[in-house]
Amino acid sequence: MADKISVLYSEEEITARIKELGAQISKDYEGKELHIVGILKGATFFACELAKRITVPVTLDFMSVSSYGDSTESSGVVKINKDLDEPLEGREVLVVEDIVDTGNTLSYLLDNLQKRRASSVRLCALLDKPERREKDVHVDYTGFEIPDKFVVGYGLDYAQKYRNLPYIGVVETE
Ligand code: IMP
Ligand code: MG
Repeated sequence: MADKISVLYSEEEITARIKELGAQISKDYEGKELHIVGILKGATFFACELAKRITVPVTLDFMSVSSYGDSTESSGVVKINKDLDEPLEGREVLVVEDIVDTGNTLSYLLDNLQKRRASSVRLCALLDKPERREKDVHVDYTGFEIPDKFVVGYGLDYAQKYRNLPYIGVVETE
């Protein structure tokens, strides 16, 4: 049976917000080079669009992590499925993630990345659900703050589906 999905942010709204984020990040990193670490798979669409809006030199790497299991709940037990290809030492690192929910994944990941002697590590998330936070995670750049609803599209999935929707929508569960 098809899930009912209602639009929360249209493709146009997302594009406009990514342009603003790109301009802000370009300004903040003026005169520097930026190393983007995208978190697979959810952040891929966002990371690529964001990178195109950044005017300082950019390099890209990707990492895959997962909470234990494949449910809609974060367990706090994080596994690295694919590590970065390159070291972070001496680099200005911007971690790009799709959504910060409980904060369990990012809390673990930022701790892990901070030990790799980068010059700086900041976080940019397309979406933030502050109501759900369990771990204190500071988001340096946020696309949109959203209420406690399960969303899909623009990289975000529900049981691996809907990542390719060009908008962000809420899954209406019965
Ligand atoms: P956290 O560890 O609870 O912050 O969860 C982070 C991960 O849970 C994200 O990277 C997503 O993969 C997933 N997630 C959390 N909320 C949603 C949602 O509303 N839609 C799709 N995935 C979500
Ligand atoms: Mg994710």
